[in-house]
Amino acid sequence: ASVLVLAGGLSAEREVSLRSGRGVVHALLEAGLHAEVADVGADVLEVVGRGHADVVWPVLHGAGGEDGTLAQVLELARVPFVGSSSAACRLAWDKSTAATVVARAGVPVPDGVTVPHSLVRDLGAAQLLPLVGASVGLPAVVKPVHGGSSMGVVVVERSEDLPHAMVSALGYDPECRVEAMVSGTEVAVTVVDDGTGPVAAPAVEIEPESGAYDYGSRYTAGATLFHCPARLDDEVTARLLEQAVGVHVALGLGHLSRSDWIVDAAGVPWFLEVNTAPGMTGTSLVPLALEADGGAGAVYSRLVAAAQRT
Ligand code: DAL
Ligand code: MG
Repeated sequence: ASVLVLAGGLSAEREVSLRSGRGVVHALLEAGLHAEVADVGADVLEVVGRGHADVVWPVLHGAGGEDGTLAQVLELARVPFVGSSSAACRLAWDKSTAATVVARAGVPVPDGVTVPHSLVRDLGAAQLLPLVGASVGLPAVVKPVHGGSSMGVVVVERSEDLPHAMVSALGYDPECRVEAMVSGTEVAVTVVDDGTGPVAAPAVEIEPESGAYDYGSRYTAGATLFHCPARLDDEVTARLLEQAVGVHVALGLGHLSRSDWIVDAAGVPWFLEVNTAPGMTGTSLVPLALEADGGAGAVYSRLVAAAQRT
């Protein structure tokens, strides 16, 4: 099969996507497939329209790529693609909606409130402090409702820092989410479905040298220590992997997802978010998690075959 990997895009995560695209192509070539990467921007329709590949693999992170827009275009054009449906991408992309759906599926989700830009503009961030404080408490994590790669994410310890954090998150998105911060072990779980049902790969534990898994810790080689499998009790690991599959199913996700979690001191895995176009760079979690599973190339080629059958 020949695979056209779409990368780049126009979001804030463009650079990451280009690196992910190269990572996917490299792995596919190693697995013996024909694959090439196209750096797409506003010309994405034109590139897809040329349509010479058997399967398209959109590796676009962020707005326009991961939010369901591109998936919808591919669905309408009846182009076989690796990834989740447009409807599932939309659900997962909105951190507030995803949190609600996942919580209803019985998975622990930190308390949080979603604050639209208009509310901050009308009331002022300071006026919102008591409201937010009462429902979430401190420390809190403030993040754009739609975003990725930790851009615009701020940890707030003191209430006087909350307005600034909200305004900075709102620089990335019209809505921000303030969530109770859970302390513990940060882990990520890749779930793969090659047509035989969703299966969780070993959990990867994340130990950033700086203490925070921010943009620098994500994409600088050596800045983060990874443990795969994560150093968790068997029982906790089993619960985590089961919950990751539960998230994948509850949101109706497709071939591949990576959900991010904090496991607290009591061994409870708390859901943070799920990515429908997770990072696939040389320092990313998905290729690392799949090493145990015969390598990323072997798994990716099974996903391409699954996409081709649909
Ligand atoms: N949004 C980045 C690419 C990730 O989740 O890996
Ligand atoms: Mg993300």
